Amino acid sequence: MALTLADAALLRSQNLIDHQWRDAGLGARLPVSNPATGEMFASVPDSDAGDARLAVDAAAAAFPAWSRRPARERAQLIKRWHALIVASQEDLARIISTEQGKPLKEARGEVQYGASYVEWFAEEATRICGDIVAEAVPGRKLLVLKEPVGVVAAITPWNFPLAMIARKIAPALAAGCTVVAKPAEDTPLTALALAWLAQQAGIPAGVLNMVTASREHTPGVVDAWLTDSRVRKITFTGSTPVGKHLARESAATLKKVSLELGGNAPFIVFEDADLDAAVDGLMASKFRNGGQTCVCPNRVYVHEVVHDAFVERLAQRVGALHVGPATDEAAQIGPMINARAVDKIARHVEDAVAKGARVVTGGKRVRTADGPHYYAPTVLIDATPAMELSCEETFGPVAPIFRFRDEAEVIRDANDTPFGLAAYFYSNDIRRIWRVAQTLETGMVGINEGAIASEAAPFGGVKESGYGREGSRHGLDDYMHTKYLCHGQLG
Ligand code: SIN
Repeated sequence: MALTLADAALLRSQNLIDHQWRDAGLGARLPVSNPATGEMFASVPDSDAGDARLAVDAAAAAFPAWSRRPARERAQLIKRWHALIVASQEDLARIISTEQGKPLKEARGEVQYGASYVEWFAEEATRICGDIVAEAVPGRKLLVLKEPVGVVAAITPWNFPLAMIARKIAPALAAGCTVVAKPAEDTPLTALALAWLAQQAGIPAGVLNMVTASREHTPGVVDAWLTDSRVRKITFTGSTPVGKHLARESAATLKKVSLELGGNAPFIVFEDADLDAAVDGLMASKFRNGGQTCVCPNRVYVHEVVHDAFVERLAQRVGALHVGPATDEAAQIGPMINARAVDKIARHVEDAVAKGARVVTGGKRVRTADGPHYYAPTVLIDATPAMELSCEETFGPVAPIFRFRDEAEVIRDANDTPFGLAAYFYSNDIRRIWRVAQTLETGMVGINEGAIASEAAPFGGVKESGYGREGSRHGLDDYMHTKYLCHGQLG
């Protein structure tokens, strides 16, 4: 498979450390594979702890000058980065589709989505402000400043190779922090292209450093950052077990930590819902990115009165989804990220069927001309809490439908999970809307809406889905600490 770009310079194959593009110190390489087949089509450095430390050296050296630079100047550089990302939309979308398997149309959307965070935080940089507090004692002034925390380590997942890393780097740079970043081993090319564009935008040496590493070498890279007291913040999107490890290990140097972890989102359709809107919402939130999204509904609860009508309309839409190579303009469901992912989806469906679920549409692996790592978009009915897919994220295009009778029962079931990232519900009863929105134990709630992410809103979870927020003004705050100045002898 060949990846041809209008701007070939975007295809990077080295780490960015201190403004230099370099191989891993030991020269090791990490293959980058076509998700549909597992075949290698490019390679990047397989970095180790030595490379990770060099990146921190650069970021620590760059921090004093970058953090003291006027916010407006930082903002202008980040805006320039934003403009270059937007201008490279088509190439970036091709890189995303090729290494991650996201259909091209969606990949273009991801570029716009990721760029929106970069623009947002460029604007927010100029609005950083503290407080002047009424003094308790005459002759004193009490001031509160916001300061950048220092060097930030950003560790990002494969499912949104551009948006996830952009929405960590942009607020860090806006706040005045410098960054060391490690993209997911499956999707390093998009991140390296972003780093290249940041360099072209004029982001100074050492302010943004990026190293790539294999699954085997990632613990060495991450441990180098965890144990380095110069790294003052870790921001991570990924699995809950890894997030807990990072939180534990960060404690030794008391780093600030933001964690956007796993979810198990409920999607509830009440008997008073607009069913067409609910089907539209589920299609948008469940089948985007082939269901490989942390905020994807994992459990769909439908009131028994509207169950059959809802399932019929949903199955028609799901059955019509076009499965095909991600770079095919017509594709709506691309390949899953790798063979392990397809195996997990198949295992969840087999387990559900063995425990009484029925397949309405899909329910099988698919092989396209492009390769074997596809799974048919699927609707299952008669799902129950005993099934694996009710307690573990399937991360694939499978919508299991649970039938329910009353509001109290469905809220109890929806909240009966250690996770609390996103929840969705459809209802036209205004009292119920407020009651349910307040009772759901999640960081985000979609009310009559299936696509909720926005650069202007705080994205993040509660419970074992993590803490910290990305996007909105809260997303900038996570990269700053609060300093109090008490200025005395004034009166
Ligand atoms: C995310 O930003 O993590 C999810 C994006 C989406 O819901 O499309």
